[in-house]
Amino acid sequence: MAAIGARIRLVACAIAFMVFAAVIPVMAQQPNSVDPNADAVKEQTLLQQMKRIQGLGTIPDVKSYVIAQPMGRGWRQFREGWLPWIGAIAILGMLALLVIFYLWRGVVRMESGRSGVTVVRFNLFERFVHWMTATCFIILALSGLNITFGKRVLLPLVGSTAFSSWSLAAKYAHNFLSFPFALGVISIFAMWLSGNIPNRVDVEWFKRGGGMVGDDHPPAYRFNGGQKAVYWIVVLGGTAVAVSGYLLMFPFYGTNIANMQLAQVIHSVVAVLFIAVMLAHIYIGTIGMEGAFEAMGEGVVDLNWAKEHHSLWVEQEQVRLEGSELRRQPAE
Ligand code: HEM
Repeated sequence: MAAIGARIRLVACAIAFMVFAAVIPVMAQQPNSVDPNADAVKEQTLLQQMKRIQGLGTIPDVKSYVIAQPMGRGWRQFREGWLPWIGAIAILGMLALLVIFYLWRGVVRMESGRSGVTVVRFNLFERFVHWMTATCFIILALSGLNITFGKRVLLPLVGSTAFSSWSLAAKYAHNFLSFPFALGVISIFAMWLSGNIPNRVDVEWFKRGGGMVGDDHPPAYRFNGGQKAVYWIVVLGGTAVAVSGYLLMFPFYGTNIANMQLAQVIHSVVAVLFIAVMLAHIYIGTIGMEGAFEAMGEGVVDLNWAKEHHSLWVEQEQVRLEGSELRRQPAE
C-alpha cells in the first residue's frame, strides 16, 4: 500500500512539474504579447464602439466638451463622401450635356438675319446689377468649389504652399463677396419680378421645347419660360445659399450643432446644383445663341432677334413707343 502511495505521489509530482514547465514560459511571454495596435486602443474602433464621446471642461462653451456624436459622423460621411460625388456629377454632367447639345444643335442662328435696327433690352442699371451679381457668383463658385474639391484636386498639383495662399485668399473672397452677391439677388428679385410671373404663354413655350428643337419660335413676352425658370432659380437658390451661408459664417448665433450641419448640407448641395444651372445659362447667353450676348453686353438687341425670340414683347414695345410718340404730339 505504502509503495502504491509513493508511486501515486511520484506521478502527481511529475504531472505537476510538467504543467508548471508548460505554463511558466507562457506567463513569462504574456507582457510581450500585448499588441500596441490592437483594436482596443485604436481611436477609430473606440469612436465606432462609443456613440457619443463627451468629457468635462472648464471653459464656458459646453459644446466643446463633445468630441464625437452620431449625427456628426453622418454629416462627415456626407461632407467627405456624398457631396464630392453630387458636385462632380452635377457640374461635369452639365458640361457634358452642353457639349453634346452644341454638337447636335449647333449655334441657334438669327434666321431672318440682322435688320440693322436695334431695340433697347436692358438699361445701364439692369446691366450693372447683372454683371455685379454674375462676377460675385463666379468668384463665390470657384472659391466654394475649392473648399469642396481643392484638397483632392488642386493640392496635389500645386503643392501645399501655393494651395494654402490661394485658399486663404479664396476664403476671404468668399466671405466678403457674399455681400454684393446677396444685394444683387435682392435687386434682381425686385427689378425683374413683374416680367417673371409664370403665365400660359410659358406653358406653350415649354411644350414647344423653347424652340431649341428645329427652327421653331414659340412666342414669348420680355422673358420666356426658360428665362423665368433661371430667374426663380437665382432668386430662390440665391436666397438659400445666402441664408445658409450666413449661418455658417456666424456659427452658433441662434444655431446649435445640428442646425450648423443642416446649413452646410443645404449650402453645399444648392451651390453645386446652382453652378450646374448657371453653366447652361452662360452657354446660351454666349456661344449657344447668336445675338444674345449683346442684350447684356451693350443693352440692345437686333429687332429681328427680338421678333424671333420675344415676339409678344416686341409688340408691347411697339405699342408703348407709339403711345409715347402719340403723347408727345399734342404738345408740339
Ligand atoms: C451670400 C452668399 C454666400 C455666403 C454668405 C456664403 C458663405 C459660405 C461659408 C461661410 C462657407 C463655409 C466656408 C468654410 O467652410 O470655411 C461656404 C462654403 C461654400 N460655399 Fe458659400 N456662401 C455664399 C454664396 C455661395 C455661392 C453663390 C456659391 C456657389 C455658386 C457658394 C458655394 C459654396 C461651396 C461649394 C462651399 C463649400 C461647401 C463645402 O464643401 O463644405 N457659396 N459658403
